[in-house]
Amino acid sequence: MRHVRAFGLVGLAAFALAAVAYAQSTPPATASTGHDPNAYAELDKTHWGDAKAGAAKAGACAACHGLDGNSTANPALYPRIAGQSERYIAKQLALFKSGLRTDGNAALMIPYANALSPQDMRDLGAYFQTQHSGAGVADDSAIASGPYAGKKLYQVGEQLYRQGDRSRGIVACTACHGPDGAGNPGPAYPHIGGQQSWYAEMRLNEYRGGQAALKDDKLWGLMALETKNLSDEEIKGLSTYLQGLHNRADQASPADVAAAKQAAATATPTPSATPQPSKAN
Ligand code: HEC
Ligand code: HEC
Repeated sequence: MRHVRAFGLVGLAAFALAAVAYAQSTPPATASTGHDPNAYAELDKTHWGDAKAGAAKAGACAACHGLDGNSTANPALYPRIAGQSERYIAKQLALFKSGLRTDGNAALMIPYANALSPQDMRDLGAYFQTQHSGAGVADDSAIASGPYAGKKLYQVGEQLYRQGDRSRGIVACTACHGPDGAGNPGPAYPHIGGQQSWYAEMRLNEYRGGQAALKDDKLWGLMALETKNLSDEEIKGLSTYLQGLHNRADQASPADVAAAKQAAATATPTPSATPQPSKAN
């Protein structure tokens, strides 16, 4: 059983790498140009996503988002989707396919969403939810003037993230997105820890500007209220803080850390760290 599983993963990796190479030369055959205005409503007819089925479809996403949802191809263009919740991913894919989400670089994304069935969207969501999100580094340059003079840029975000600002109706972001930005899949509050700062900044500006994809969307409305009174500097501070926010330390239990240390101490040094896929067969 273990062998079968290991083989399955190697097979998937090989498939995805092939997909990357292919996507870089020609647009993959899975891309489609047709919108479906009903795509968003059709999500109601689906069931919870199947991560295994999603893994088999994720090769189409790898060229841009990375096989595990941590984009390496061009992090300045493609958001991180690793660790994002199943429902949030499915919702965004359905919005792209419905023609309701056209912001930023959505034109690059839309043909891939158009090619998906509503259940594919949930399966892909379930797969990426199981992947671990990486993180970047927060900007610690000092602010020269203005209300935050003397603070570092990320500290402006850290304070708002942890404490909010009651006098301006800004709820601490931790209340919904959690202390490490992992979100809450139940009510579909997205995972935001480790997201590229430019992407978080773009989204926060959209919420503040009222560019709702769905004008009556309750969840969108929560963020529109939250961002209404944020200044540009505060949005930048929050975005860079998010880029550095991650949960890896929290996820490793003391037992995990001890086991990893012991494994490292007893490991026999090998001349090359390259994985040997043939051993998995
Ligand atoms: C050709 C590159 C490309 C491919 C292939 C691609 N995407 Fe994207 N994706 C993007 C870009 C660019 C964005 C950001 C759009 C924007 O600026 O709003 C995006 C955004 C997203 C988002 C929204 C993330 C968020 O937090 O709001 C999701 C979810 C997503 N993609 C999932 C997928 C899945 C699943 C696949 C495979 C079926 C896929 N993408 C294939 C380029 C791509
Ligand atoms: C009351 C709950 C709530 C609070 C408080 C809140 N958020 Fe959100 N946030 C949400 C929900 C819900 C969404 C998804 C909206 C949607 O579905 O369009 C979201 C979306 C986002 C996104 C976009 C994620 C993506 O990948 O597209 C970012 C970035 C974000 N929030 C950052 C913040 C920051 C920073 C704060 C604090 C200043 C904050 N949020 C406070 C509920 C909340």
